[in-house]
Amino acid sequence: MNKPEKIERVISASDMDDEKLVTYPTEPFFSRDYLENEKKRLWPRIWQMVEREEDLPDPGDWMTYNVADESVIILRKDDGSLKAFHNVCPHRGRQLVSVPDMMPGKIHDVRGNNRKSFICGFHGWSFDSDGNNTYILDQQDWHDKLTPEMTCLSEVQVDSWGGFIYINMDKDAVPLKDWMGFAGDVLEAHELSKMRYKWRQWAIYDCNWKVAIEAFLEPYHVAGTHTQLLEFGDYYAYSKQFGLHSVSGYDVRDQDAGETSGGTTRSGKSGLDPRISTYQLIKTNYETVNYSASTETLVAAASRLEEELPEGTSSADVIAHWIKSAKADDAKRGVIWPDIPADIQKESGLAWGLFPNQNILHGATFALCYRVRPYGDDPNKCIFESYALERFPEGEAPETEWVHADPTGENWGLVLQQDFDNMQYVHKGMKSSGFRGPLPNPHQEQKVINLHRNLADFMGSGGPRLIDTD
Ligand code: FES
Ligand SMILES: [Fe+2]
Repeated sequence: MNKPEKIERVISASDMDDEKLVTYPTEPFFSRDYLENEKKRLWPRIWQMVEREEDLPDPGDWMTYNVADESVIILRKDDGSLKAFHNVCPHRGRQLVSVPDMMPGKIHDVRGNNRKSFICGFHGWSFDSDGNNTYILDQQDWHDKLTPEMTCLSEVQVDSWGGFIYINMDKDAVPLKDWMGFAGDVLEAHELSKMRYKWRQWAIYDCNWKVAIEAFLEPYHVAGTHTQLLEFGDYYAYSKQFGLHSVSGYDVRDQDAGETSGGTTRSGKSGLDPRISTYQLIKTNYETVNYSASTETLVAAASRLEEELPEGTSSADVIAHWIKSAKADDAKRGVIWPDIPADIQKESGLAWGLFPNQNILHGATFALCYRVRPYGDDPNKCIFESYALERFPEGEAPETEWVHADPTGENWGLVLQQDFDNMQYVHKGMKSSGFRGPLPNPHQEQKVINLHRNLADFMGSGGPRLIDTD
């Protein structure tokens, strides 16, 4: 079988900036050995999102977070700070809190309130909210040789950012703020911490976790997958790496043919009346992405563009008017848009891929987010989660919880269903002996390349390599 010729070396960040041609191996998607290695080299060493902070508002609120073979307990303490421990008793290793595997319709995670201590259900060893051991039956049998270090819970790093709780099992990990880097600055400027869940859904899906997150990393697939959107808009994307994380945003194929506004907002298809096509695009997007990736306010303001603006208004003026009136409408109901500094706005883009398993499509008052995790020991399955965040007037955020939802258009909207329809067939297709290896688009699919470049750093193998085209 022909492989891409003359593969040379693992790519660097500057190779990516130069948009060089690369490929990467498919072994990380299918190999059980690779999955076992991810358990050792990836998941215990990365900052990963657990939950929104507002889910654990009060002292004693706690929950579990599982990834691969790891289970972690996160607890809100009396002083308001967070504490996290490995969910394992130091005696003979029983899970301190029993956490069954995620079960469609039954179990997403285990959580509760008013927790002051943990008592192991096997032999009764007990622990306080700092993880110190407070009770051992017949301690004298160990000849009084047990030390607090031997009998306390194993601590896990916990921090919060953007209203999310993050954990890292690596004691030597860089601080979360450094991990987030510029991606954190951009998303923080959008005040994610003031947003609340609008909905949250999950499913077990038949593909590797990397296939699942990649389906949402690049807008290059929009023209081929979400064909109904082409009627109103042109879809061309740039993407750019910022170390661990990367961003994509709207771009124009021909710099003379259209306008961009920092890659975050866009007008409809060139050649159409932008007052009308902007509305159609925004409305269709909103309604087919399960009422997310925009807001009622933005859709309503777009619906008025035709009556509020004269015919012939330029695309840029239509967008400016739309944003201004939506912002004023929101202010009237107490939703104040963040002031995003111009230098941040410039690099803000449309969606960030946060290494390794999170994707956040952000706006001034909303975010559509994805998270994926491996499922059990099967490289052919993953846990897929998606949730919408939005700024609500004080006290008006809806009550939500994680809902298991089969991957149908009825449950997730047409656009997400179209994405789901690709995922398992990408996973199957890449197994073909006729597949010569991925040929990611160097301009539009850099986020996929960057995922594999950074993954290789953790895994020690499997990175993208340059294709020698000379
Ligand atoms: S395993 Fe927990 S007390 Fe024995
Ligand atoms: Fe998509």
